[in-house]
Amino acid sequence: MFLPQEIIRKKRDKQTLTREEIHFFVQSFATGVIPDYQMAALAMAVVLNGMNDEETASLLTAMINSGERMDWTPLRKQGIPCVDKHSTGGVGDKTSLIILPLLVADGLAVPMVAGRGLGHTGGTVDKLEAIPGFMAQPNSEQFRSWIIARRGAFGAQTDSFVPADKKLYALRDVTATVESISLITASIMSKKLAEDLDALILDVKFGSGAFLQSYGSARELAQSLVNAGKMAGCRVEAALTNMDEPLGRTAGHACEVVECLDILQGAGAQDTRELSLQLAARAAVLGHQDTSIGAHEKAYTRMKKHLESGRAYDVFLKIAEQQGAHLSALERSNKEWIESGTIDVPVLADIQDTQRVESINTRALGLLLIEMGAGRKKKEDAIDHKVGLVNMKKVGETVTKGEPLCLLRLRKHDTHADKLQLDAAAAFLLTDPKKQVSAKPLVADWIK
Ligand code: URA
Repeated sequence: MFLPQEIIRKKRDKQTLTREEIHFFVQSFATGVIPDYQMAALAMAVVLNGMNDEETASLLTAMINSGERMDWTPLRKQGIPCVDKHSTGGVGDKTSLIILPLLVADGLAVPMVAGRGLGHTGGTVDKLEAIPGFMAQPNSEQFRSWIIARRGAFGAQTDSFVPADKKLYALRDVTATVESISLITASIMSKKLAEDLDALILDVKFGSGAFLQSYGSARELAQSLVNAGKMAGCRVEAALTNMDEPLGRTAGHACEVVECLDILQGAGAQDTRELSLQLAARAAVLGHQDTSIGAHEKAYTRMKKHLESGRAYDVFLKIAEQQGAHLSALERSNKEWIESGTIDVPVLADIQDTQRVESINTRALGLLLIEMGAGRKKKEDAIDHKVGLVNMKKVGETVTKGEPLCLLRLRKHDTHADKLQLDAAAAFLLTDPKKQVSAKPLVADWIK
């Protein structure tokens, strides 16, 4: 029998915890035997003193074992590998809506348990809930039946899926204990490994709109996530991707869904399309275990074909329909769920001539979205799916006097429009149009 305070003391004094101690602590916390204050104390000791690889692995397994695990044996028996993609999050980061149908179109199964918005970053579940009728929080039986029927579905973490993480993450969020590579690794990978995956592609973001801003810490996290996945027998690779400007030209919920539908129909923002293709191609190579020469190029070409032929769009529609979405809402002419009750307000730069966008304070735009009602200040807050940023200028583009840097899609009755416009304009740093400014590469590196 262990004493929780002795385990906390050991970590406080920089000692190594045993597998048994970690399992006892996590299990007792998940079942309510260990109270929040003792878990918070241990989490703080881990933030300050770290965990070695063995301790992190023990924490990860203890979290996975705290609840239900998915089992895709029936699909594997039919030769269908299960894959997923996870992103650490950013502003305008909407690639999941494109990658899932691309991978299903490529013959893979994708049981994607996605998240809600966190801090200044948006979440896939919130975006999908902007679509009228879309059920993004299925219970485990429903989710399983959807995957078996259509090979892909979007879900959200339930109380029985990795409950130790659900409870611990909520606690870390309010006790300043999020920033630990070990805690983040166990949190992210417990959810992904409990999905029973053959392969996983991770999108670890760095830059002003990312949750870990420095390239060094994002790289350290990426390596830790990849190592944890491999130890558990899952084929994992991570992309280190740039979040120094929002992804695409929209940020919000309904407006991001529309941007994804555009991409799935052959138009839309170039950066979002390209990143989706690259991540999907890597996931497909890992999923199909394709070790042939030129596997990545071949997978990329297939993904492009799935987009250009409309196959991925058809898959998205079928999955959306299965999850309750009103398909009529997804027709281009139906703007009711996207725009009704809103007004688009231009954000103008205070300039006399033409200027070039040199950089964008992406975190500031994420925080602005919270002020507009698109994000939560408290966990229980309701969000407004219609408000957002649209027609955003990208880094390197020029802007002339009178031309908007972006449009704020606000509720018609919003009384803060003036202040929001000023804050949005301040997030765009402008420079001489003759200055060469190019957007940073979408993918800085791949970690294997
Ligand atoms: N996302 C998660 O799911 N967990 C973390 O700890 C951080 C980001």
